[in-house]
Amino acid sequence: MNAIGFPPAYRFSVAPMLDCTDRHFRVLMRQISRRALLYSEMVVAQALHHSNRREKLLDFDPVEHPIALQVGGDDPKLLAEAAKLAKDWGYDEINLNVGCPSQKVQAGNFGACLMAEPDLVAHCVEAMVDSGGLPVTVKHRIGIDDLDSDDLLTAFVDRVAVAGASRFAVHARKAWLEGLDPKQNRTIPPLRHDRVTALKQRRPELLIELNGGLESPEDCLEALQSCDGAMVGRAAYSHPLRWASVDALIYGEPPQTILASDVVEGLLPHAANHLERGGRLWDLCRHLVQLVEGVRGARHWRRELGEKAQRPNADLDVLRAAGQQLKDAGL
Ligand SMILES: Cc1cc2nc3c(=O)[nH]c(=O)nc-3n(C[C@H](O)[C@H](O)[C@H](O)COP(=O)(O)O)c2cc1C
Repeated sequence: MNAIGFPPAYRFSVAPMLDCTDRHFRVLMRQISRRALLYSEMVVAQALHHSNRREKLLDFDPVEHPIALQVGGDDPKLLAEAAKLAKDWGYDEINLNVGCPSQKVQAGNFGACLMAEPDLVAHCVEAMVDSGGLPVTVKHRIGIDDLDSDDLLTAFVDRVAVAGASRFAVHARKAWLEGLDPKQNRTIPPLRHDRVTALKQRRPELLIELNGGLESPEDCLEALQSCDGAMVGRAAYSHPLRWASVDALIYGEPPQTILASDVVEGLLPHAANHLERGGRLWDLCRHLVQLVEGVRGARHWRRELGEKAQRPNADLDVLRAAGQQLKDAGL
């Protein structure tokens, strides 16, 4: 429980996912959980340094709170600047990516390869804490390449905790930096929830979120038996409505039924705003194709939405009609 008696937001979170957890998907998830912590896609600190792209990279809708900005980088100065921007922009937290194994990210010496450099990560975190005033959290793996013992993992979090990190989101897989691409690195190295749980047991005073392979709210409840938070990535993106019970199950809110049509209706103000600012309807609707599944007509609904929302002049009526179709079908 936090100071005012509510379970903290990080008990359940939607993981940062490039090309998935943009502001539109986050607003969609906010229709499903009022309480979940939502992470942004990773934003490279260097990109934020160039002010002309900041609005595009940082803007979010106030309904997205609580929201964490995830950044990638290895330069304490640039990361400090990013933390200050995150604070000014109104984010609730800033998270450093020490888990991404892509070649591009490695070439910039950030992401998962930083697990080999706990001192550098600590300097980055320190700089972010000092300049931003926001909670600074770190998302990382259980190990990389041959550096994947429990001792090294503990030494890593110890060093970074002393630097001021408030919480650790641990993807319960090691990453192979050579030989596997990012997608393979999310499936081939075996899931080791036990190693994250053991880390929490060794360091009960640290806040640890478990990430990797959580498929249902019930899986998350189980993870919460041993860790402080449950973070869900792919299963949230691929099955958004599966998570409709998390506010009741995880945060103790009164149970409520959330239908696909409620989600679409809830998105209308955000969609109107986006269109007014010159955005395309498809920017949002591309995330909706996963909303309806396992019922007759789902494929037809998806196809029709896809066709209509991708037209260059697609307006709010397309989304309204798609929502009405769902309502008429009792979905
Ligand atoms: C398409 C995609 C993009 C991702 N992008 C990021 C990212 O930007 N930052 C990050 O820390 N992790 C990223 N991840 C990893 C996820 O945050 C998460 O750690 C991983 O998918 C394991 O959790 P899951 O089994 O619940 O999906 C990404 C994963 C996917 C599938």
